[in-house]
Amino acid sequence: MKFTVAPSILAADFACLTKEIEKIHKIPNSQVHLDIMDGHFVPNISIGPCIVKNLRKTTNLPFDAHLMIDNPENFFSQFKDAGANYITFHIEQTRDPIPLINKIKELGIKPGIAIKPSTNLDEIEYLLPQIDVLLIMSVEPGFSGQKFINSSLKKIEKAQRIKESKRLNFQISVDGGINDKTAEAVIKAGADILVMGNYFFKNPFELVKSEIEKLREK
Ligand code: DX5
Ligand code: ZN
Repeated sequence: MKFTVAPSILAADFACLTKEIEKIHKIPNSQVHLDIMDGHFVPNISIGPCIVKNLRKTTNLPFDAHLMIDNPENFFSQFKDAGANYITFHIEQTRDPIPLINKIKELGIKPGIAIKPSTNLDEIEYLLPQIDVLLIMSVEPGFSGQKFINSSLKKIEKAQRIKESKRLNFQISVDGGINDKTAEAVIKAGADILVMGNYFFKNPFELVKSEIEKLREK
């Protein structure tokens, strides 16, 4: 099975992020998932562009910035300058997403749309031809370490069907509760990118690495 691994550093040890990112380097076909939270859009605060910019000096891995913030458009250029390769914003608080998608593209980076578990795919289907990533949240945004919401599988399958039938190129990223038990079904449903927080950083690295290898061999 083919997929990209995107460890979310929200679950990493923030006192030694450089070392934590070295683990991501040891996984082929991987990228760094950055959960950006403002305490308004979600009830948690994480990191901002300043930390991202410093991390950029430590790695060439792609940075995938998942913005869980109000007025995300106010921060696009700061995250671009900090080294983000993908910027994903949530549809729920965005009235007019097309100018936002265009703004990200004009900055020379790849736009993504994120949807919460309660957001229906129909609401964003018209945007799919214009984005690089559809991020399907399989937990409520805000915290790592939550349980995978099983009904997300249907949404992933539906996104995959739309992608195939309309011959679109966006990648399906799935975020929340991915571990050795949930990953296979998520990939089979159509995910291209697996975001992994707790599972990746809170288990022995060699074990996680070999589980990822096993999945890729299937
Ligand atoms: C939640 C974040 C996720 C989270 C994933 O708001 O978007 O990226 O860190 O963590 P796990 O894999 O532990 O659910
Ligand atoms: Zn995320």
